[in-house]
Amino acid sequence: MEDLILVTGGAGFIGSNFILQWLAPESTGVLNLDKLTYAGNLSNLESIQSNQYRFEGGDIVDRGLVCALLTREKPRAIVHFAAESHVDRSIHGPDDFIRTNVNGTFSLLEEARAYWSALPESDRALFRFLHVSTDEVYGSLGPSDPPFSETTPYAPNSPYSASKAASDHLVRAYHHTYGLPVLTTNCSNNYGPFQFPEKLIPLMILNACQGKSLPVYGDGKNVRDWLYVEDHCRAIRKVLARGRVGETYNIGARSEKNNLEIVGAICQLLDGLRPADPVVPHNQLITFVKDRPGHDRRYAMDTRKIERELDWHPQESFASGLEKTVRWYLEHEDWVRSVTSGSYRQWMAKHYASER
Ligand code: NAD
Ligand code: DAU
Repeated sequence: MEDLILVTGGAGFIGSNFILQWLAPESTGVLNLDKLTYAGNLSNLESIQSNQYRFEGGDIVDRGLVCALLTREKPRAIVHFAAESHVDRSIHGPDDFIRTNVNGTFSLLEEARAYWSALPESDRALFRFLHVSTDEVYGSLGPSDPPFSETTPYAPNSPYSASKAASDHLVRAYHHTYGLPVLTTNCSNNYGPFQFPEKLIPLMILNACQGKSLPVYGDGKNVRDWLYVEDHCRAIRKVLARGRVGETYNIGARSEKNNLEIVGAICQLLDGLRPADPVVPHNQLITFVKDRPGHDRRYAMDTRKIERELDWHPQESFASGLEKTVRWYLEHEDWVRSVTSGSYRQWMAKHYASER
């Protein structure tokens, strides 16, 4: 085995943050397998100087490609981010979610199993398949329910979360049935640089700057636990290095906020940073729109296991992480322009027309 990790979906939001963080202190190699869907942007990774990084364009569903890569590159781990990740898109069109999240994870597992089975025994003990998943697999909490723990029964409510739940179950089964050394992480909502502006925080930042309405679904009281993306990446590195094989780890910030609080905080930051924007104060732009079908009311994570076993704790507070994020979007107009071209505009027109 080589001292190299295969990252899937490394041109997306969390994957690119993970690769940038990995290459900063580590000297080991990264091969990034990404299909470059609308959500994948190689410009996220253009600051990389290291000769330890390589990109391979391709689809995780393509078993021939995955087999060839594993045989040729001999990675010591697979860190699996690649997915369709946007709940609203899964409601409009679930097919790609089943294809990539379920069939794609299955393809990776099958090829990983074949590769791992043929390794010498000492390497087999070291190999890891780390599956990156979400808190949404656990369903929705009431206002006073305890947070999700690793033993909370799965109850996914959207085609996205159902596809992620299915992939989590496959990963689990490959450990129990075949002994594949897997690890699963279930994380809460991430925010930070390079997040595609279809998601709440970047969408609201960009709309507010342009004087466009800020479309809040339903009553705006749905609660999420917001984690700065670099803290998520640090957690994944800890799980990869020291997580117990076959285990799952919940990751979150213990930072529950409802959507109106999030949008209000963004508006307040922008009032200070962009006093000459078309509409100030920015919160005048808040518009309540039709709710997301099946909209989960509240997510919250019990993170005691990863804190206790791996001594992981988030380093960023919500206030500091949000300010960094807002400033990042304001300072990266070229990136924003490059990702908000044709297909993005079509999505926005179609989706937000149906929200009214
Ligand atoms: P993203 O949508 O920003 O990026 C997904 C990446 O996967 C893109 O680069 C895309 O090109 C690639 N991809 C999609 N289909 C592919 C395929 N068939 N073959 C190869 N590459 C493909 O997603 P993200 O927000 O970075 O999420 C990454 C992972 O983390 C996902 O598995 C998601 O379920 C999980 N997750 C996300 C969050 C969050 O808040 N964003 C929270 C918890 C877990
Ligand atoms: O919880 C982890 C999940 O977080 C990840 O698994 C998903 O990949 C990721 O997309 C995210 O899912 P959410 O549905 O929670 O994120 P999103 O940014 O789409 O929405 C956050 C909240 O904001 C949610 O309650 C819906 C609401 N919302 C979203 C948009 C895009 C609005 O009110 N208006 C909007 O325009």
